[in-house]
Amino acid sequence: MSPSPFPGRYPTTRLRRLRQTPWLRRLAAETTVTVDQLIWPCFVRPGENASEPVASMPGVERYSVDRLVDQVREAADLGIPAIALFPATEPERRSPDGREATNPDNLMCRAIRAVKAAVPDIGVIGDVALDPYTTHGHDGLMDGETILNDETLEVLVRQALVMAEAGLDVAAPSDMMDGRIGTLRSALDGAGHRGVVLLSYAAKYSSAYYGPFRDAVGSNARLIGDKRTYQMNPANSDEALREIELDLAEGADMVMVKPGLPYLDIIRRARDTFGVPVMAYQVSGEYASMRAACDQGWLSYPDVLMETLMAFSRAGCSGILTYAAKDAARILAGSSAG
Ligand code: PBG
Repeated sequence: MSPSPFPGRYPTTRLRRLRQTPWLRRLAAETTVTVDQLIWPCFVRPGENASEPVASMPGVERYSVDRLVDQVREAADLGIPAIALFPATEPERRSPDGREATNPDNLMCRAIRAVKAAVPDIGVIGDVALDPYTTHGHDGLMDGETILNDETLEVLVRQALVMAEAGLDVAAPSDMMDGRIGTLRSALDGAGHRGVVLLSYAAKYSSAYYGPFRDAVGSNARLIGDKRTYQMNPANSDEALREIELDLAEGADMVMVKPGLPYLDIIRRARDTFGVPVMAYQVSGEYASMRAACDQGWLSYPDVLMETLMAFSRAGCSGILTYAAKDAARILAGSSAG
């Protein structure tokens, strides 16, 4: 046999060789998506035996606590390791100072207690931020049009403590203001909650993709003031690494990048730089746009969904928050070949 004129190159080397069959493609796959990575964000509403669809998020509903528990049991049965709970607080329980956040019997705390009692093995993540409780819809206290950093911290500490008392597993400070992680860590430790995990929304961008979520939780109020004064500028990437570095130094256990798909570069940099568990949030607007195209028949939902999850995994994520978590878990349970 004569040696190839181009050893190591075509026609001797053919990268298509490893793509010929499903078993070869499986063996050669660099990345996998598993149910272990899925976190299901879900919305809880007041009332009993009630649920209502979120208009801008087809397939997503707000559940009363009793129905939520059934839904969470189903998620656990599908193998989903954790949920992230978001309360749709009644307008009459909102105030400029968001004091309902610190009520140990608020909707969020009742939901945490009910879920942990009925489905103890699923992890429960809760945001530490005031937006579900303020009339103005901002994540912090306000003075005129200014959103206050340090004054808000005292309320956040009390909010985190009532959620921890209710059984919260993971506290996720999500307001993108300064000094959250260190203050919450020492407050939680001081109250004996040393096991509560801190997941920092360290790189949360001021994004147009949050619209449907704000409909879902009713925080879309007359926004005076500007979330761009605390959430990150989509133009920045080095700044995300500084945010993450500071939060890790303050004691964050895991960090989040949000939104997801438009920020895969940030996920990759975070993972390469720090080597800590990075979560991505496939946010409401990403879900809504994917669903809208799929419901029109323009894209195939299972295929596009799984491709997005693969992209998160490939970019370096450990966990993925997605409203499609249950759909993905069912798809994963039904197929092993690629
Ligand atoms: C607020 C919060 C937001 C989301 C999660 N926590 C919205 C915001 O910053 O206004 C958005 C999630 C989504 O769009 O799915 N603390």
